Amino acid sequence: MAKYTQAERLQKLPPYLFVMLEELAAQKKAEGVKMIDFGIGDPDLPCPNEVLDAMDQAARVNENQKYSSSKGERDLRIAVAEYYKKRFNVNVDPDKNVCITIGSKEGIYNIAQAFVNDGQKIVAPAPGYPVYSGAATLFNNAVCDKVKLKAENDWLLDLDEVPEDARLLYLNYPNNPTGACADLDYVKKAYAWTQKHNTIFAYDNAYCEMTFDGFRAPSVLQAGMDAIEFGSFSKTFCMTGFRLGFAVGHEDLVGGLTKCKGQIDSGAPIFIQKAAITALSLYDNYGFLTGTAKENNDEFGERRKVLVEGLRELGFDVKMPRGTFYVWFDCGKSSMDFTKEMIDKGIIVTPGTGFGGEDGYIRMAVTRNVDSIQEALRRMGKRND
Ligand SMILES: Cc1ncc(COP(=O)(O)O)c(C=O)c1O
Repeated sequence: MAKYTQAERLQKLPPYLFVMLEELAAQKKAEGVKMIDFGIGDPDLPCPNEVLDAMDQAARVNENQKYSSSKGERDLRIAVAEYYKKRFNVNVDPDKNVCITIGSKEGIYNIAQAFVNDGQKIVAPAPGYPVYSGAATLFNNAVCDKVKLKAENDWLLDLDEVPEDARLLYLNYPNNPTGACADLDYVKKAYAWTQKHNTIFAYDNAYCEMTFDGFRAPSVLQAGMDAIEFGSFSKTFCMTGFRLGFAVGHEDLVGGLTKCKGQIDSGAPIFIQKAAITALSLYDNYGFLTGTAKENNDEFGERRKVLVEGLRELGFDVKMPRGTFYVWFDCGKSSMDFTKEMIDKGIIVTPGTGFGGEDGYIRMAVTRNVDSIQEALRRMGKRND
């Protein structure tokens, strides 16, 4: 029995899936097995040197060691606005429409705290990023309506199934965990749906630069400014540990988010925000990534191909994702059983049930190099008996 009982809202949260998996894998590791980890979506590749150099220099400047503001540094907000113009041809006011967040996760959580009252409905696609149905819903006593994503719809949310009285709709393409991508037409339809039903549209675009085979992910703001979109430096520039993202959209939504943040944080570290300005300078004039950031993305694309083709050879029916570094497939049995079998073979995967969807699916993040992927495929192909 714990001496201090957690608040009821915290007790409602399921144990974070990755923690449970870490424990299982740790036991195996202790037996001397070299685990190959495709579990967490944390890039193994390096952050571009230009960004690190900029951070190093910025960290040594006294003013950059002070509090920032909850809205974020103005020069970074300007850089984000310029990125939206270059990449999506969308005009954004850096003072009204942009807020810097401590990773996109923080913005995704706080937007619900800022705008959803007790008992109001939050729609979370299932499977989906756990924060939508977890803390974002529970910590303000909202009601989560999980709407199923289905393989037969290419994992695109069927808007006809979304409750019309939803206060807030989370949507995320390129999608974690399925790797599904939405084109601008679909995003426009979703936008029109939220306009019609007076629902806040919270579009999670954390993977918008992690796309392959010529696919370019749209921004929801190409459909209109009456929404809020969350972007991230984490995956695009391999900066997960830096904790930096941005929210861009309708000034009321950005304003409410900023007000909420004002009670919670004092902004991301200034020297990291300065480094992020350099990161956003790594696009060419047409909004394409250059240098290490581009090479990293190409590497994830190549790994994804090796893994998908290898899994197909092993008999799995796997789609080649056009976005994210996740490979998602039907494992033909309970995903927890499959995951345990994999841990036994020294491979860490994530059971799809951890994302709230139907059972039977597995997510593998291609955060290991091609040699490791090939070794994992060999292990998967070996029978235990
Ligand atoms: C769909 C999705 N959104 C948001 C995030 C949060 O990213 P960050 O807070 O690092 O920007 C993640 C992280 O894995 C994610 O998968």
